[in-house]
Amino acid sequence: MRNSRNGWWEDAVIYEVYPRSFADADGNGVGDLSGLRARLGYLADLGVDAIWLTPFYPSPLADGGYDVSDYCAVDPRLGTMADFDGLVKDAAGHQIRVIVDLVPNHCSSAHPLFRAALAAAPGRPERDRFIFREGRGPDLPPNNWESQFGGPAWTRVTEADGRPGQWYLHLYDPSQPDWNWRNPDVPALFEDVIGFWLDRGVAGLRVDVAHGIFKDPDLPDVQAGQPLNGPSPYRHRPELQALYRSWRAILDSYPVDGFPGSRTAIGEVWYDQADTLRPYLAPDGLPQVFNFQLILPDWQAAAFRGAIDSALALTSGSRAPWVIGNHDVPRPASRYRLDEGYTPEMITRLIALGDQNAEHGAWRARAAALLLLALPGSAYIYQGEELGLPEVTGIPDDARQDPRFRRTHGESPGRDGCRVPIPWDRTGTGFGFSLTRDGASPAAPWLPQPPEWGRYSVGPQLADEHSFLSLYRAALRLRRDHPALGRGTLRWLDPDPETPDLLCFAREPGFVFAANFGAAPAPLPAHGEILLASGPVTSGSLPPDTAAWLSG
Ligand code: GLC
Repeated sequence: MRNSRNGWWEDAVIYEVYPRSFADADGNGVGDLSGLRARLGYLADLGVDAIWLTPFYPSPLADGGYDVSDYCAVDPRLGTMADFDGLVKDAAGHQIRVIVDLVPNHCSSAHPLFRAALAAAPGRPERDRFIFREGRGPDLPPNNWESQFGGPAWTRVTEADGRPGQWYLHLYDPSQPDWNWRNPDVPALFEDVIGFWLDRGVAGLRVDVAHGIFKDPDLPDVQAGQPLNGPSPYRHRPELQALYRSWRAILDSYPVDGFPGSRTAIGEVWYDQADTLRPYLAPDGLPQVFNFQLILPDWQAAAFRGAIDSALALTSGSRAPWVIGNHDVPRPASRYRLDEGYTPEMITRLIALGDQNAEHGAWRARAAALLLLALPGSAYIYQGEELGLPEVTGIPDDARQDPRFRRTHGESPGRDGCRVPIPWDRTGTGFGFSLTRDGASPAAPWLPQPPEWGRYSVGPQLADEHSFLSLYRAALRLRRDHPALGRGTLRWLDPDPETPDLLCFAREPGFVFAANFGAAPAPLPAHGEILLASGPVTSGSLPPDTAAWLSG
């Protein structure tokens, strides 16, 4: 049987694993595939349907593995291909599917094809797989594009004769040259990569920088004042849609008989307005794109309602799964301390806040988790969200790894604070992040954990029915069993003018969601039982920054 147009992914809860920070099996302080394999039972008990692994491929790690030097191999520091196959097999045993990351916009400057391009003379076919151009004048790059990590998006190479020569494009770090998707070798290479991983039994692909990839062939300057994520010479190009149709055809050519069922692909598309997503949602395009609508609004009921409505006006949550965080944005438990929605700059304000308001952010993140899991469609959880991990703001400069920190000369602290290794135990080196043999002491984790990290660890949270982890586990269990949750629709319950801070919707059959975004307690809407609440709900009243799941 060929792929039907709907699949398991339409209401799946998918857990994002950042492998170097999840669990370390060999005690070297860096997470690996065996560590993840050893913790699959935890994920099964949590109740997720699939995991998405960020890159685990050979890489110089200039951008946490998003600088890939071999697309069809496992970084030896993280394991072997046999470990990967074992992971897919063990995960299937737990009814967990595996999604891998595809990084098609750029590779690593250590990739053999980029090395070949550098070794070749200007104008040779090897160079045409990347975007090499002459400068606009002495020491002037070909255009004014800026790298997403700061500084120019062009780097000049030294030619074989030792003289400065052409420039190559890198929308990210100089160690991440952009592929030229107009050269037929490039789509052919990626079709092979996609086939390679699908043949190994992965259930889908997460497509990195899916809004990028194609550039305006004239490489015109970017005009001043363009919105950060709006259409531009290198974002949301119309050529993308034919590419995604071709990838959809590959996905659909895989049989759905038996596990893991139909294959999905989810594009990382950053946008200025939800409407920008529209072309990506063509019926024969990528099955899914991320929906960042719960990350972007200010902490206000009306702003959240507007954000949810603008996503649902375009498509169902089945095609645009909901998220409240990922490895690129500050942790929700810290981010929601501020009343404003996410911007790349907010990390600096969070650092300035120090520990202030920490509880406040945590309550809001618990409420946001119940919202995330009550909305129609699919949802992603980033590792550690279920533990309520805060953003780590005190990483010393010399321990920071994110290229954004380096490229902005420290002006932006970067994204390391949401990538700090997971605490599994209350005490010990690495708080149980590294499993060791024979009682040997493990190496310190690759990013330093703060001293209070043990407070958030899995062990004690499992034993505490009021913990973040217990809330997530209960929500995922209920979501699995309740006929109103998962795919479907919602109906807003109009706010009482007296309580504009209350966000309420109903789902059929018999489910009501309510969240209080205000500073004063608000009355619960009419309901039967309280199924689950993110905080103490008493005598029909919802405290500030609290959400509840109710029977209707
Ligand atoms: C995506 C990834 C991010 C990475 C960037 C460049 O946005 O999520 O972590 O730095 O692409 O690959």
